[in-house]
Order: sequence, then structure tokens, then C-alpha cells
Amino acid sequence: MTRHTALTVLGIETSCDETAASVVRLGEDGRATVLSSIVASQIAEHAPFGGVVPEIAARAHVEVVDAVIRQAMTEAGVDFPGLSGVAATAGPGLVGGVMVGLSAGKAIALSRSIPLIAVNHLEGHAVSARLDADVPYPFLLLLVSGGHCQLLAVEGVGACTRLGSTIDDAAGEAFDKIAKTLGLPYPGGPALEKLAQGGDEARFPLPRALLGRDDCDFSFSGLKTAAARLAETLQHDAEKRDLAASVQAAISRQLTERTARAMRIYAAQHAAPLRFVVAGGVAANAAVRAALQKETEAQHFSFHAPALKYCTDNAAMIALAGAERLAKGLTSGLDAIARPRWPLDEAAAIANPVNSFGRKGAKA
Ligand code: KG4
Ligand code: ZN
Repeated sequence: MTRHTALTVLGIETSCDETAASVVRLGEDGRATVLSSIVASQIAEHAPFGGVVPEIAARAHVEVVDAVIRQAMTEAGVDFPGLSGVAATAGPGLVGGVMVGLSAGKAIALSRSIPLIAVNHLEGHAVSARLDADVPYPFLLLLVSGGHCQLLAVEGVGACTRLGSTIDDAAGEAFDKIAKTLGLPYPGGPALEKLAQGGDEARFPLPRALLGRDDCDFSFSGLKTAAARLAETLQHDAEKRDLAASVQAAISRQLTERTARAMRIYAAQHAAPLRFVVAGGVAANAAVRAALQKETEAQHFSFHAPALKYCTDNAAMIALAGAERLAKGLTSGLDAIARPRWPLDEAAAIANPVNSFGRKGAKA
């Protein structure tokens, strides 16, 4: 990484249903220390609707964003003149919410005459394993969240190559939708994991996706439909527990199989030491982590995952991505736009529009 003096950056995250702010210090040695990380969840506001309602999310961000930023600054013991820059998520995400956080970031940058860094939310997840931990670049990344499911070779901030991506749903979306058919509350992923405890994962055979292909792409729609059909026929709690366990095992298996392929491709292009990072909300799932860790050891990669609090959406990852960009001189103008869709590897997304922009494509 480019040599620089220590940087202190405020991060703001409002792309989905968490209003978050954080102050991160990036040392001269490239190590990141989280000084504060505040996350105000809107789960209670969306729960009655079984999912995130964009308009409710945007309004809720407006109501609390100032207080969340103030709390992050106070807890960090940093005043505004002490900031080197302000980073805000500029997409991809629910655009009404993104605009709230990005506008707050612009206002601070303008009034304090400090640089603004418009951060891609996915880049935040990509750097999240580096928070309070020593995980040097480059690494192979599996990014698995509610909106995204992709494998990326990460050479540094702003330098990612996509190796595979979902052609329909994201893994977290599959967890959430299947959980709903099992009558579980939103967000479904953690609830399904809890239900699956002690269940028989071999009880219900579920379809395996894209078997005829040898690339690193994912697909969860077949699994989702099959699980929904089965869920309708189930009467007893024990059966539901077994279905939850079978679903969790099927998702873990697909994530692990594609990751194994990506590891072989990555290893052919990179020298040792080989590192693997899993990030995003689904990385909080213990069965998914365990399956990936086993594969990682078999393929002689080191295994890294962010602390659980940095797996799901947070602003510390946005602050760190912003600080690393700032260190490279990659700042944004105050005309930076909020982007509902914004692939990390834009070249790959344009070359392969099946899993790129557009109403029918995957979300990033
Ligand atoms: O990264 P994240 O907070 O937000 C996005 O950027 O999407 O990820 C949220 C997703 C949701 O789909 C949630 O159900 C899933 O991560 N998730 C889990 C677990 N914890 C969160 N899925 C399975 N098992 C979990 N323990
Ligand atoms: Zn996220």
C-alpha cells in the first residue's frame, strides 16, 4: 500500500436497513483501528412487512442519521477538525436511503473543507476483514450478503476482478425467502440458522444448481422454489427443522463448491501466501463458515472472516474503504451521485450482462 501519514475517517452507511456511522484510524503501517462503530437497526420498523420497505427505510435514515453520526464522533473522542475525510456509501442499494447518507457526508465535507470519498458498499464488505486485523492484500473474496453473492480477486482497494456471481438471487436473499415460507420472522437468515440446529440435513434432497457448468457462478432460484413447495406440505416442527437444516446444507455446499473452483483459478494466478476472505451477512452463519474453512484448509489457503459485528452492514467498513482510497488520492467531487446499481468489477459486469445491470439481472 502507498505510504501515508495516519488518517482518521468518518464513515456513513445508509444503503439498506441500518443507519450506521463509524470513525476509523488507518495507521502509517496500513493497519486499521476502529475508534467507534454505531449501528441503528430498523428491523423493528420493517418486521411487520416481512422485508425492507424502501420508503420506510429512507425516512427512518433521515430521522436518525445526525444522531448516529454525533454518537460515533463522541465515542471515538474525535472532533470534526480532527477528521482527514468523510466517506459515505454511494451505492449499490435502496437509492432513497443512499441519498440520505451521501447528502450528510457531502454536508460535512463542504462545511469542514475535508475530502469526500463516495464508497461502493461492496468495497466496504471487501475490506471488512481488515478491520482490527492484519489481512494483507491480495486475497480471494467470497462476498455473501442479502443483496450480493460473488467471488472476487481483490488486489487492493479499487482493484477487484470478478470470478463469479449469482445469476438470480443472492445467498442471503435465498435464506430470507425460504425462511419466510417456513413462517420465520424477518430477517430470515439468523432465524433459519437457529431452527436448523439439531435438524437432519440429509432428510430433504434439494436441487443442485448449474451442474453442467464449470464456472464460478451461483444460482439459488431452483433451491428456493423446491424448498417453498416442500414447506407448504410440512405439518410438524421436527420436519421444519429438518428442512431448515437441509436448506442450510444445500446453500453451504453450493458456496463451497464454487469457492473451490475459484481457489484453483486464483492459485494459478497468484503466488503464496494464498488468502481467502468470506464477508457479508451470510458469513455470520456458523455452518457456512465451517464448510468454507474446511475447503480453505484443503486448498492451502489461510482463512479470514471479519468479526461478526463487521459481517453484517456497518459503517466501519465504509470508513476503512474511504481511508484506503484517501491514502491513494482517490477522492470524489461533491457532485457524486447515489447509484442503485454499481458493480465492483464494472468491466466484467459490462462484458457479461447476464449478471449485470438491468431489471432482471442480479443486484450487482
Ligand atoms: O451484509 P448484510 O447485513 O446486508 C446486505 O448488504 O445485504 O447481509 C444481510 C443478509 C440477510 O439476508 C440475512 O438474512 C443474512 O445476511 N444473514 C444470515 C445470517 N445472518 C445474517 N444468513 C444466514 N445465517 C445467518 N446467521
Ligand atoms: Zn451489505
